[in-house]
Amino acid sequence: MSTLPKTAETDEQLRSAMVDALRADGTIRTDRVADALLVVPRHVFAPEVSLTEAYEPVRALVTKRDGHGLAVSSVSAAQIQALMLEQADVQPGMRVEEIGSGGYNAALLAELVGPEGEVTTVDIDPFVTDRAARFLYEAGYSRVKVVLADGSEPVDGGPFDRVVVTVGAWDLPPAWTDGLAEGGTITVPLRMRGLTRSISFRRDGDRLVSVSAEVCGFVRMQGTGAHDEHLVLPRGTKEVGLRFDELDRPDTSRLAGVLETPRAERWTQVTVGNQEPFDSLYLWLACSLPGFGLISVDPESDTRTVAPANRMACPLVVDGDSLAYLALRKISNGPATFEFGAHGFGPDRGRLADLIAEQVGVWTREHRTGSGPTFTAHPAGTPDDQLPDGPVIDKRHVRLTISWP
Ligand SMILES: C[S@@+](CC[C@H](N)C(=O)[O-])C[C@H]1O[C@@H](n2cnc3c(N)ncnc32)[C@H](O)[C@@H]1O
Repeated sequence: MSTLPKTAETDEQLRSAMVDALRADGTIRTDRVADALLVVPRHVFAPEVSLTEAYEPVRALVTKRDGHGLAVSSVSAAQIQALMLEQADVQPGMRVEEIGSGGYNAALLAELVGPEGEVTTVDIDPFVTDRAARFLYEAGYSRVKVVLADGSEPVDGGPFDRVVVTVGAWDLPPAWTDGLAEGGTITVPLRMRGLTRSISFRRDGDRLVSVSAEVCGFVRMQGTGAHDEHLVLPRGTKEVGLRFDELDRPDTSRLAGVLETPRAERWTQVTVGNQEPFDSLYLWLACSLPGFGLISVDPESDTRTVAPANRMACPLVVDGDSLAYLALRKISNGPATFEFGAHGFGPDRGRLADLIAEQVGVWTREHRTGSGPTFTAHPAGTPDDQLPDGPVIDKRHVRLTISWP
């Protein structure tokens, strides 16, 4: 449904209403980002939709799907673009690489770097680069360099002060760090144990240290950086899926039939209001639970026994022939309040449900409020004794550490 006033008609008015909405929800924090969004004609990059739809702040326009109907390219929602531009802190005169093109965001970057700066946008798909180059020309931004290449590989035009990745990444390939000027930043939607955060990393020698992280979702990276999750179907059908995203995943060979065993329940007295976000709980569970994965249940399924807190993707722990996941139950209607808990299945169901419940308690006491963790990417091969305490996620090219305050 449109969040724009019905009176907005011209593209200038629609841009202004879009920027007002993004300021009001806290996404736009600086005048520089607001000014860029006020100037660039977003509708030129989205000719398939109406003028009003082009300026819907939270609407992404899918421009290409794969054979399974999965989106592989889009003009991202203005909200996520503004969020990442705020994170990236692009200044006049900078040299910027954008990975994943659509044209619109590259034009915003061109506004931010000004006439003294340079923007190179890279996409792996000629359909996207042709389209982006055409629309950039039409909108008056032909000074943006459009390159057809795999963005995980080095490109000409560096060293870059900013690398802005606008496609979901699982790893941080060396080309990004090597192509970055010292003190430069990479802003990237990075998947960690199945959870995505747009992280701005500042280069510090051969390490990347996060300066900000925001919840987001993106289409997935193709090419050499592509990475598929490991999917397990404990019922043998797509009704319930267990997904494991990292190279070191638990043994899942003994889970057949586990969801047909009796269910254990644990409740925590930790509550959450209706629209209250709890993304940091997922990240905390991903960091603190060995054998972490995500469980999803087909929205069409009528199962009542398998009832995770979120049917799309819910924290899960697996150990041998048992599993448990995060659950949520309504405890009050006015105002709607829910209690966190856990459901366990298999011989070890009670212990695994306890494990989740315990960590929900730690989260609410120690991490529910506050600035969230710092993410640091160390080169692959960095020995354990040179890493900070805390969880380590081993990617192919980096060892990612997550330090909670
Ligand atoms: C969400 S779209 C980019 C949105 C765009 N920045 C905009 O202005 O709205 C993601 C793009 O990443 C591209 N992509 C996927 N894998 C890539 C890779 N390895 N290198 C470069 N581009 C890639 C896809 O073809 C797709 O066009």
